[in-house]
Amino acid sequence: MGYNARFKVWRGDDTDGELEDFTVEVNEGEVVLDIIHRLQATAAPDLAVRWNCKAGKCGSCSAEINGMPRLLCMTRMSTFGESDVVTVTPLRTFPVIKDLVTDVSFNYAKAREVPSFAPPADLAPGEYRMAQVDVERSQEFRKCIECFLCQDTCHVIRDHDDNKPAFAGPRFFIRLAELDMHPLDTLDRKREAQQHHGLGMCNITKCCTEVCPEHIKITDNAIIPMKERVVDTQYDPVVWLGNKIPRRASAAANRALDAGDASAAEQHARARLRDKPTDRSALRALEVALSAQGRFAEAADVTRVQLAEAGRGNSNRRAALAAHAWVMLCAVEAGQLDLENCEEEIASTLQQAQRLASTGTVLAGSHALHNLVHGRLAEAVEQGRETLHWDRPPQTRADDLLTLSEALAGLGEDGESASAMSESLTLWPDNPRLSSARSNLRETGVG
Ligand code: SF4
Ligand code: SF4
Ligand code: FES
Repeated sequence: MGYNARFKVWRGDDTDGELEDFTVEVNEGEVVLDIIHRLQATAAPDLAVRWNCKAGKCGSCSAEINGMPRLLCMTRMSTFGESDVVTVTPLRTFPVIKDLVTDVSFNYAKAREVPSFAPPADLAPGEYRMAQVDVERSQEFRKCIECFLCQDTCHVIRDHDDNKPAFAGPRFFIRLAELDMHPLDTLDRKREAQQHHGLGMCNITKCCTEVCPEHIKITDNAIIPMKERVVDTQYDPVVWLGNKIPRRASAAANRALDAGDASAAEQHARARLRDKPTDRSALRALEVALSAQGRFAEAADVTRVQLAEAGRGNSNRRAALAAHAWVMLCAVEAGQLDLENCEEEIASTLQQAQRLASTGTVLAGSHALHNLVHGRLAEAVEQGRETLHWDRPPQTRADDLLTLSEALAGLGEDGESASAMSESLTLWPDNPRLSSARSNLRETGVG
């Protein structure tokens, strides 16, 4: 059943304008854009509005309806009462060109300021590989239709034109987060977001998330994780203090580690832990010292304590979970822990670590080793090969190659196994996993 609705529509340009009253017919199933089109066809043929798809996909018809940033084509008239007055105004954050059409070129200028995807120089197009979990994570951000409703609602620029040069806005924070989470991107996106795009000016009010027609969790999934990682690297007082004031015994342990003396490092770390059993730096030094000596099961006892002391902050917890899963897997590989007894702990630690990991690649080597110790060789090989496409530190790459070498040997791929082993040795000749890996390889007749 149709009815006549009362509308107030903003008419004007960048110099002047006012709300104009209309009474217009509304039919069942119509959206606000239908009404605007009816006005163009009847009372206001020169009414300017931008639109293209009428399906919520092109992002052109953004405006404010009763003061809320909305898509005209996705706002049903049935959401209003028949006696309501519906007010339609242009996006407030951007200059008006005419009536409901605004100049959103600010956003295109900001888009150009974000450097594009930067893969490793030695990787040719067609050789890019990434984990499914990373594809899925960034998929959410790629749903953006560039309607700029989030930009419009963000108070940092909505009420403060002077912030515009320094602030990119939520749409570009999700772009930066997407690139930051991309395993093959080589630029430091979070530092760039903080230093050049005004990430620090966002006070996570979540207004952008509330208006996003694609239901992208802009604040929770992009802005907050990026802010956390910036804080981890730049502002965390614990990290800062840890960097500035090395505690004596922990510092001695770290010096011994730097000098390659794992046994002295162990003694210094244990001395410090007698005074302060929860000293993070000493725990870390002890874990590294034990691992360097190939005593992975003992290292796992230390990482368990680290995990208990990690608190609830995402970054500490993520690091502690990853370290614990890794040393337990190494202990199983070396025959120091029985897989049957600790599989539940390994699986749950890995699962929790994966949930907090910024990208799937961070734990890919652990997943490959997990498959290897279970004898799932084909999966281990597949993951091991994939990890080689990613830009990782030399020791991590050496570990990945070692896992790959063992898995390949188990499948009878001796040539590729031997070459993976030799590359691993070049990268990290003192890898403490080597002796167990070599004995596994001997069992299979390789190495
Ligand atoms: S959460 Fe940040 S980016 Fe989003 S609207 Fe609020 S201040 Fe702006
Ligand atoms: S993030 Fe959402 S609100 Fe912002 S431009 Fe993209 S689709 Fe629009
Ligand atoms: S017309 Fe394309 S999103 Fe509304």
